[in-house]
Amino acid sequence: MGQEAFHQYYQDLYGDRWNALHAALISPIRGTVAVINPFNADQTWRSQVQGHVSCDWEGILLPTSSNQEPFPAPGNFSMEFYPYYLLDHASALAAQLLDLTPDTLYADFCAAPGGKSLVAMFKLQGPVNALLNEPSPDRCRRLKSNLSSYLPNNVVNKIKVTSYDGRRFGWHRPESFDTVLLDAPCSSERHVLLNQKELDHWKPKRSKQLSELQFSLLCSAFDAIKKNGMILYSTCALVPQENERQIERLIKKRPGRVEVISHPLLEKYFEKRSHGYLALPDRQQMGPLYCCLLRKIGDS
Ligand SMILES: C[S@@+](CC[C@H](N)C(=O)[O-])C[C@H]1O[C@@H](n2cnc3c(N)ncnc32)[C@H](O)[C@@H]1O
Repeated sequence: MGQEAFHQYYQDLYGDRWNALHAALISPIRGTVAVINPFNADQTWRSQVQGHVSCDWEGILLPTSSNQEPFPAPGNFSMEFYPYYLLDHASALAAQLLDLTPDTLYADFCAAPGGKSLVAMFKLQGPVNALLNEPSPDRCRRLKSNLSSYLPNNVVNKIKVTSYDGRRFGWHRPESFDTVLLDAPCSSERHVLLNQKELDHWKPKRSKQLSELQFSLLCSAFDAIKKNGMILYSTCALVPQENERQIERLIKKRPGRVEVISHPLLEKYFEKRSHGYLALPDRQQMGPLYCCLLRKIGDS
């Protein structure tokens, strides 16, 4: 029942594209890339990932089209720090947009397991004042373990890990951060499709409930950034109500205060939506990932 309703719902949404998109979503070949950890000095791992080539941003290794062998798990190497972080190519690109500097006051409201923030710190290659928040205890443990596996002490020492509900920050820390990553909990349809039990229990209202949580988190992020501060809002959902509709709602709620920003990486690799950009695995061979870069403008 859930399965039928799921397919009907996404068929209505994506029309003729749904069959190809569905096939790409359940395909075992995914857009996983390895982002090189610049804090790891030991380069002996390189001989073990032959057959993988670097793409146009130097720190990202992609599998070649002739070699779809998965990368060895980063924990397989006995080194002081793990040599690379594995994540979806679209997430690796989105993390580039955070563009941290040593002076940025940075917060990641939904941080675990930490992939996008780690990639942003790899790009900076040094410490940043960061608050990484994750309310789930298990996931927060994984986040902390990843931080110590990838980053040296001088970087970890500048990171504060918290476990609050992200909806609290706008109220408790108003106008506090230069940059906020809001990588929101979402419908995660790829995950649903790969889990029969979840598919059997799927209902359209799942997305509605999540979109209310996402909007509260987005308003919280907006209130917690300083004037001219940036938010990167992202989800791995396929439905517009969790993606561009959220940006429309924010623009209506805070008229004259929200600027949607474009970026060459998004223009190059993602599909443009009414607000923000989407990468889908049938056309971009990565994702699903929606992301939208926002700036807070105007007077408080
Ligand atoms: C998409 S995942 C984040 C992935 C992470 N940014 C990364 O790149 O590795 C969303 C996270 O939001 C967390 N979450 C759920 N409800 C939340 C809330 N109310 N406030 C903050 N985080 C929440 C989930 O536990 C989950 O870890």
